[in-house]
Amino acid sequence: MLVLGIESSCDETSAAVVAHGWTLLGHVIASQSEIHAPYGGVVPELASRRHVELILPVIEEAMRQAGVTPAALSGIAVTNRPGLIGSLLVGVTAAKAMALAHDLPLVGIHHLEGHLFSNWLERPDRPGGAVTPAVALVASGGHTELYLIRDLHDYVILGRRRDDAAGEAFDKGARLLGLAGGGAALDQLARSGDPTAVAFPRTRTDPPLDFSFSGVKTALLRLTQRSDPPGTPADIAAGYQHAIVEAMVERSILALELTGVATLLVCGGVAANTRLRARLAEECERIGATPLFPPGPLCTDNAGMIAAAGASRLQRGERHGLELETFARSPLTTECLCLSVPTAAGPAR
Ligand code: KG4
Ligand code: ZN
Repeated sequence: MLVLGIESSCDETSAAVVAHGWTLLGHVIASQSEIHAPYGGVVPELASRRHVELILPVIEEAMRQAGVTPAALSGIAVTNRPGLIGSLLVGVTAAKAMALAHDLPLVGIHHLEGHLFSNWLERPDRPGGAVTPAVALVASGGHTELYLIRDLHDYVILGRRRDDAAGEAFDKGARLLGLAGGGAALDQLARSGDPTAVAFPRTRTDPPLDFSFSGVKTALLRLTQRSDPPGTPADIAAGYQHAIVEAMVERSILALELTGVATLLVCGGVAANTRLRARLAEECERIGATPLFPPGPLCTDNAGMIAAAGASRLQRGERHGLELETFARSPLTTECLCLSVPTAAGPAR
């Protein structure tokens, strides 16, 4: 089964050809970050115009790398929600045109479902891919959520963000520390710092699996405003990163313990963070769980993950017609499981 995946929900134009659901034969990710850099954020109109220029060459290159023609494809999967509406429309329109021209099945994919599938791509250690049930930590510039994946395509929310997403907290922290390059630059600086030299607050949430990073962000702002900041910039970066990472580690481990699930998937841009990977690996080992991280390039937006999710849905016989719509906002699921920590007073709800 050969599936073409197309992703254009934000500022990456990407196409991929995946075989058997999990093997990447061709993959092109064209980043637009340079175009948006002068504005300090993605400019939607510029993004969609660039997608229009790139979409066909990117698809052609992915098909060329894979050495396949459209006639050899079993179907096309495209991100149709959520994202920048003008950007989504470019990918979806290209996908519809190809599906119509070559008489191929088409399926629309939720962007976050794609991120969840990024963990199952290119894993020679796991032929056949998906392992469920699993707990998933999705941490990106726009998301910090914990999901229970009960079965393939069956998701329940366990915890969600109350304010900033983890990636946003990393980006704002990097800016306050005068670093260009967002979370990755903060991660790099923190490597030479002592995470215990400068203490940052940890926020408790109710329900306990929800996330809040506004307190730690405010603490960093106050520190950077002081004339005599404690510790070196590397110590401050390490302490700040430690607070964000431990909040994610604590909740992920608690989610595994409360659900009794033994596999943790970590995905989204923040899954590239070296400290998060190391700490989750340690803590999962302690409780006998297995953490899975996507390879570095598959943490950020890519079409490989969309093709993988699409292959699984196409295999189940799912099809969308040419009326497939795009949505700027769309939850992966609305089903929520509110878990609480068991206390001496009674069992967990
Ligand atoms: O998933 P993603 O590429 O885009 C979306 O937000 O959808 O995630 C980007 C986020 C940014 O906030 C970036 O600062 C963060 O991921 N990020 C990191 C690292 N690499 C990327 N955060 C912490 N440590 C990193 N190494
Ligand atoms: Zn994304």
